[in-house]
Amino acid sequence: MSSPLRVFFDKKSRGEKLAMISLYDAPSAKICCDNGADTLLVGDSLGNVILGFETTVLVTMDDMIRHTGAVVRGAKSSTRPNVPVVADLPFGSYSDEISAVRNGVALLQAGAHAVKLEGAGEMALRSIGALVQTGAPVMGHLGFTPQSSLQKNEIVQGRNRDSAQQILEDAQKLEAAGCFGIVLETVALETAAEITNALSIPTIGIGAGPDCDGQVLVWHDLIGLSEHKFRFVKKFADAHGVLAQAAEDYIREVQGSAFPTDENGWKRTP
Ligand code: KIV
Repeated sequence: MSSPLRVFFDKKSRGEKLAMISLYDAPSAKICCDNGADTLLVGDSLGNVILGFETTVLVTMDDMIRHTGAVVRGAKSSTRPNVPVVADLPFGSYSDEISAVRNGVALLQAGAHAVKLEGAGEMALRSIGALVQTGAPVMGHLGFTPQSSLQKNEIVQGRNRDSAQQILEDAQKLEAAGCFGIVLETVALETAAEITNALSIPTIGIGAGPDCDGQVLVWHDLIGLSEHKFRFVKKFADAHGVLAQAAEDYIREVQGSAFPTDENGWKRTP
């Protein structure tokens, strides 16, 4: 049986776009797989989106394992049970080779097909090397890297020649280290296009323009459940409006004794 990750290589070689969605729960994973997602990401954005933190730095391995399991079960229950699931290694979980391997293995044992980690510094490269040697597929993440956002002033990366050159070199290092794909987050359009052309592994953009090999968005953003407005997000639905209306209707009916009725319960048997 071929690896579910083959889709990354196949689509890049055919020049077809990869659609990835970052999400955290089983029912959403099932909807996305049933409707054609190429791959799912269990992003550590779950810290901000689901757990109400202001930063991904507070996300733990326990959080990632729990949500990875949920997403994997949702994907497996879909009509396309082989959609590959990538899981984020959270902040501090890959700061040396031993932790990287231990934590990467834990995410694979939770059902993920691959792990993703941020950056291309010496530490990240050593951890990627150790994971790849262990047999764990690794996706890289360059540009704006939320786990180190406290050290960066600029959201958009690769806007000037030097910064563009740096990201390109980092991307080439990740490819050489054995990554099978790279997320480019808020990278200037031209820089993302140059990197995409220079690599034989696919780039997945978020705020990196139309020339990447694929695109990732956070599920809650694309369905219109998040309240923030990022320039790189397109809302494909008004989930916030639908849910707010449902909440209002339910509360009104309960408070007005319109719900539940006898039809929502069971009569005693004679
Ligand atoms: O955590 C996440 O959801 C991500 C994507 C935004 C790429 O890393």
